[in-house]
Amino acid sequence: MSVLEIRNLHATVGDTEILKGVNLTLRSGEVHAMMGPNGSGKSTLSYIIAGHPHYTVTEGDILLDGESILDMEADERARAGIFLAFQYPVAVPGVSVANFLRTAVSNVRGYTDGNGNGSMSGGVIGSNLMPMREFRRELNSKMQEFNVDSSFARRYLNDGFSGGEKKRTEVLQMAMLEPKFAILDESDSGLDIDALQVVSDGINKLATENRGFLLITHYQRILNYVKPDFVSIFFGGRIVKTGGPEVAQMLEERGYKWVEEELVGGLVPA
Ligand SMILES: Nc1ncnc2c1ncn2[C@@H]1O[C@H](COP(=O)(O)OP(=O)(O)O)[C@@H](O)[C@H]1O
Ligand SMILES: [Mg+2]
Repeated sequence: MSVLEIRNLHATVGDTEILKGVNLTLRSGEVHAMMGPNGSGKSTLSYIIAGHPHYTVTEGDILLDGESILDMEADERARAGIFLAFQYPVAVPGVSVANFLRTAVSNVRGYTDGNGNGSMSGGVIGSNLMPMREFRRELNSKMQEFNVDSSFARRYLNDGFSGGEKKRTEVLQMAMLEPKFAILDESDSGLDIDALQVVSDGINKLATENRGFLLITHYQRILNYVKPDFVSIFFGGRIVKTGGPEVAQMLEERGYKWVEEELVGGLVPA
């Protein structure tokens, strides 16, 4: 069992404080949904957990199984079992899905170049990868398991992909990397029904007792397909309420205005 604990996290970009005391505990075997209005800092939180260097943590800590990960680079965090699916995945023409996955898997599993260096070190890619046959066998089996057409592996990463295809790549990546904690920044509007189905099927298959999910979303739509154990409301740089699925229902019925008036209004001096 693993625990990812975010304690009183404050963070800035430049002079602007974006996270203002986030407290959140994720445990393996649990799906935690986080909902909040645009601009509240949800994506910022996910980037900071994954180790994006652009942000400065000014207070608080992030602990994986009791150990702070704040001093770890993004690739070390990935090796430690943290996975982030971006809200807006980038297209990489010239790099196939298979090559991308092989590089990512090799890095996370610690394949080295014989000098003790990780697979991405020194910018050299290719000399230190998981053996091709072994990788192919595993990729084929996971593609079957997750209903991904085999032609997919040869296509260029996210290049001209539909929303559903991007999500399929994301699910396949999770299935291959086997993270302890997966953070999915779904923020919504781009997801058509097909994409929603793909990602929710993927989560439901991958939500085992050894893995925790943080599912970030603007609308509660995806929660019709994935049943969260916890739902938090994120507002103004911190979590203002945590409960069960009924919290999502309440948001759906009463909207974010209610959050501002009842949950935040009473706490922030006029
Ligand atoms: N790199 C950045 N530079 C300046 N401001 C940023 C940066 N990233 C995020 N912000 C600001 O931080 C706030 C939170 O953004 P974000 O985390 O994307 O919110 P959400 O994902 O909840 O919509 C916004 O006001 C946004 O403009
Ligand atoms: Mg966002």
